Amino acid sequence: MIIAIDGPAGSGKSTTARAVAERLGYVYVDTGAMYRTVALAFTRNGVSAESPSAGEIRELLGNMHLDMRFGPDGMQILLDGQDVTGDIRTREVTEVASRVAVIPEVRERMVQEQRDLARIQEKERGGVVFEGRDIGTIVFPDADVKVFMDASEEMRARRRYEELQEKDPDVSFEDVLSDIRARDERDVSRRLSPLRRAEDTIEIDTSDIDLHEQVEMVLRAVRERGNCTSV
Ligand code: DC
Repeated sequence: MIIAIDGPAGSGKSTTARAVAERLGYVYVDTGAMYRTVALAFTRNGVSAESPSAGEIRELLGNMHLDMRFGPDGMQILLDGQDVTGDIRTREVTEVASRVAVIPEVRERMVQEQRDLARIQEKERGGVVFEGRDIGTIVFPDADVKVFMDASEEMRARRRYEELQEKDPDVSFEDVLSDIRARDERDVSRRLSPLRRAEDTIEIDTSDIDLHEQVEMVLRAVRERGNCTSV
């Protein structure tokens, strides 16, 4: 069983994906973390995400080794053997990530990695939860359950602001709000795999409902698929 959860930044999809995965005994794959890690690889290798040459992209992707591990704290991501789970949560990486996410070769590689991961997880645990922007539309158009989560811009910026403040107390709400607006614009308007709703998706607006309700809505859809009677 593949559960695809898409939505913009701060829509609450990570928290929901994690909780749903826990209830089902699956792992949850944060695909945004994968794009963030590619962004870190660009920065560390001194490759500009604005206008990289075809050769630079080929070399970077050819040498880059990504590894995803799953434990009680969720997904850990390793770049060339080094755990970068914490390093990819800065504002700078966030900015670069939305730029590398428009590079066709990067998307192709990520989609391949995600499909490989799904195959392994379905075999090992019977299912997996993926969250991102193009999961239900491009990566797994035949996913068993597709969910699109959204919330007002203000609320999404507030959530991101609270997360970021733990790392960077100087960050202002206005900065986070304008970052979110710029990122939304790039995610929605990019030519390749833009953020959009899959046709057969369940829409959840998280502005007014709590986590428990969000999780129950997804689990109800899982039950309706008939594969899981124990949730
Ligand atoms: O969800 P996030 O903020 O960690 O995502 C980081 C960036 O990666 C964001 O700009 C959108 C992009 N992304 C994407 O293009 N496709 C995905 N499946 C997941 C994330």
